[in-house]
Amino acid sequence: MAGSVNRQIVLTELPRGKLLVENFKMRETQIPKARDGEVLLHVRLVSLDAANRAWMQGETYRAALNAGSVMDGYGIAEVIESNADGFARGDLVLTTTGWQDYVALPVGNVVKIERVEPLSHLLSVYGIAGRTAYHGLLSIGQPREGETVVVSAAAGSVGSFVGQIAKLKGCRAIGIAGSPEKCNWLVNELGFDDAINYKEGDLSRALKTSSPQGIDIYFDNVGGQILETCLEQMKLHGRIICCGAVSSYDGDLPDRGPRGVPRQIVIKRLMLKGFIMSDFNAERDRAIADLRAWVQAGRVKIIEDISDGLETLPSALVGLLAGENRGKRMVRVS
Ligand SMILES: NC(=O)c1ccc[n+]([C@@H]2O[C@H](COP(=O)([O-])OP(=O)(O)OC[C@H]3O[C@@H](n4cnc5c(N)ncnc54)[C@H](OP(=O)(O)O)[C@@H]3O)[C@@H](O)[C@H]2O)c1
Repeated sequence: MAGSVNRQIVLTELPRGKLLVENFKMRETQIPKARDGEVLLHVRLVSLDAANRAWMQGETYRAALNAGSVMDGYGIAEVIESNADGFARGDLVLTTTGWQDYVALPVGNVVKIERVEPLSHLLSVYGIAGRTAYHGLLSIGQPREGETVVVSAAAGSVGSFVGQIAKLKGCRAIGIAGSPEKCNWLVNELGFDDAINYKEGDLSRALKTSSPQGIDIYFDNVGGQILETCLEQMKLHGRIICCGAVSSYDGDLPDRGPRGVPRQIVIKRLMLKGFIMSDFNAERDRAIADLRAWVQAGRVKIIEDISDGLETLPSALVGLLAGENRGKRMVRVS
């Protein structure tokens, strides 16, 4: 049943420097009505994505966020009222719900999805995280048995799947993460061959020790200094999968590019390719079928980090950018 008010979290001002919980405010409004061609949705789970912060820096693959608007974000919601053909009360949809309890949207903006238990798997392994890792590593990186795959933000939502899929394909998986606890966990729980704490010691030396022959595939979630260091250690004909640049999201301006471009790219005949997960929407069914088979066979572990309550969204995003999370972070709203 619908409640009596719609709680919304508004981005009251664009952050100057690091994002703060104080950049957001909760407000209460009326529950919207579904107009012709729209559905009224009750938001169930909201995904926390590092890119939420990048949207505040200006236009990306989507329009920039503005101060004063409801904070945007992807989520899973349930139809509670439908004024559109093909949608009924109880249907589940994936959409940009925003950080709020209820939203009315035209059906062109929502994707109906099959119910899966638990629902959270639709945001983790079968959602953005799992599919980004799958398409990025397999379609772009095209790993071959015996190759060395290095992934940054390895203990995060995308990275934790990248390393596990690399192992499934017979590769050596090396993770880069921000604490000794995360590194131990990557090796002991997720089966990575090695993990390096980039906050301690000399990353370049640690990578040379861990991959003396060099890197075949670098799955880059962070950009910046870590990309620069990996670039230097790529093998001839290596592939760099540019997935994101979280090291430069939580500030005013994105970084300038790393040193070594184009020198290393030319000398080593490297391939660098960026992508957005939705580029591979036509291959969604194959990705989900493979991921489901690996999960059922116990070959891929699903790591989720879920908190409860709409009001926890601002601190959950600030914490994600600070490296609090392991696996896919999300908030259960209702
Ligand atoms: N291309 C696509 O379609 C697509 C889709 C989804 C996500 N992405 C990208 O994938 C990356 C991961 O995003 P996510 O949403 O899944 O978040 P996540 O990996 O679950 O969490 C972000 C992690 O980044 C690490 N981090 C933060 N600041 C860092 C820094 N300065 N240097 C190195 N690591 C840092 C933190 O872990 P540590 O403790 O290890 O620092 C943190 O846990 C982002 O770049 C995102 O934009 C791309």
